[in-house]
Amino acid sequence: MTPLATIIIAIAVIVVLAAVVLVTSARRSDVRGAGALSRETVKRDKSIKAESGAGPTGAAYESTEVATRSTELAKATEVAPVAWEAPDQDAVDVSRRQFFNRAAITLMTTSIATFGVACIAFLWPRAGGGFGSKVTVGRLEDLLVQIRSDKGFVYKPEARTWLTAYPADALPKARKAYAKQGPVLAGMEAGIVALYQKCPHLGCRVPECKSSQWFECPCHGSQYNRIGEKKAGPAPRGMDRFGVTIANGNVVVDTGTVFNGPAIGTNTSGQEAEGPHCISGGGAKH
Ligand code: FES
Repeated sequence: MTPLATIIIAIAVIVVLAAVVLVTSARRSDVRGAGALSRETVKRDKSIKAESGAGPTGAAYESTEVATRSTELAKATEVAPVAWEAPDQDAVDVSRRQFFNRAAITLMTTSIATFGVACIAFLWPRAGGGFGSKVTVGRLEDLLVQIRSDKGFVYKPEARTWLTAYPADALPKARKAYAKQGPVLAGMEAGIVALYQKCPHLGCRVPECKSSQWFECPCHGSQYNRIGEKKAGPAPRGMDRFGVTIANGNVVVDTGTVFNGPAIGTNTSGQEAEGPHCISGGGAKH
């Protein structure tokens, strides 16, 4: 799933949760809010009406009232002014029910908003260049120099990637073996390989072995040559890898797509161990 799709799904989930909160709170205030009659009160009113029998119709009642109405002006009785009294604070202030309703809605809204912001903040780096997207790891010529000076291996944590040099004289074989992995082959043509750090056996992080010039997994002893082709151990294939593009001299590793490592037996560089192994007991060689 692309980072953009993940962000869209997260935003949709937040909107749905917010809608649920609003609908729930609106329903609660319809049913139980101030001024609404409870179900028992409505039922009691209906039963009182039923007991008192049918009264006069509205029209008959109005005719009677009109007939008895007087046109004389009635003199208003003198009423002494009433002294002002302070209103009942309980009636003026927010009721306890209102207070709890508003507090609950505020808390839920704040929680959902915080959750939403946290989700987007968590996903933002993926959309903006972290692991899972295209990562620029440096200038090609600088990286090739660094690989040589670091004895064959450079690790880029932001891309969870090992970078190694691909030998130019092995390219004819690579064009056959990696023909279906265009972006991986493009990196090889430029002289560089970007290998995923995760072992294709059970997922341990595979370290380099400077003495043998191979990768050697400490978990179950799988071994791979410097360009990640499998040499020994229980792994089902070579190390997985990423596509590489060169943009204005910079190496861009696309960590959004993982290409499966080459099948067992693929050996385009023919590189054998160049010294003692770091991990012993790597199992039978393949
Ligand atoms: S996880 Fe690497 S060999 Fe098992």
